[in-house]
Amino acid sequence: MRRAALAAALALASAPALTQPAAGQSAASCSGCHAAAPRVGAAIPAIKGRSAAEIVEAMLAFKAGSRPATVMDRIARGYSEAEIRALAASLSGAK
Ligand code: HEC
Repeated sequence: MRRAALAAALALASAPALTQPAAGQSAASCSGCHAAAPRVGAAIPAIKGRSAAEIVEAMLAFKAGSRPATVMDRIARGYSEAEIRALAASLSGAK
C-alpha cells in the first residue's frame, strides 16, 4: 500500500520532466492566459489569429530579453526556437 502511494507520488512528480508535450498540447498552455479572441479592454493581448511570423518574432524577442515583458520573457525561455515555431504555427491556425 505505502509503496504504491510512494510510486504514484514519484510518478506525478516526475511527469512534467518526462513528458515532452507536442506543440498542439502546449499551445493549450498559452490559451490559459491568452483569450481565444481579442477582447476589448483585456490586459493580456490575444494571440489567436496572429500570423505565425509575428508570434515567432515576439517569442524570440521575449526569450532574448529584448522585448519588455512581465511574464512572457520567463515563459519564452522555456521553449526552444523549434518549439516556438511549432507553437506559432499551431496558434496561428496553420495546419
Ligand atoms: C501567465 C500568463 C501567460 C501565459 C501562460 C502566456 N502568456 Fe503570452 N503574454 C502574457 C502577457 C501578460 C503578455 C504581455 C507581455 C508581458 O507583460 O509579458 C503576453 C504577450 C505575448 C505575446 C506578444 C503579444 C503582443 O502583441 O504584444 C505573444 C506573441 C505571446 N504572449 C505568446 C504566448 C505563447 C506562445 C504562450 C504559450 C507558450 C504564452 N504567450 C503564454 C501572458 C501569458
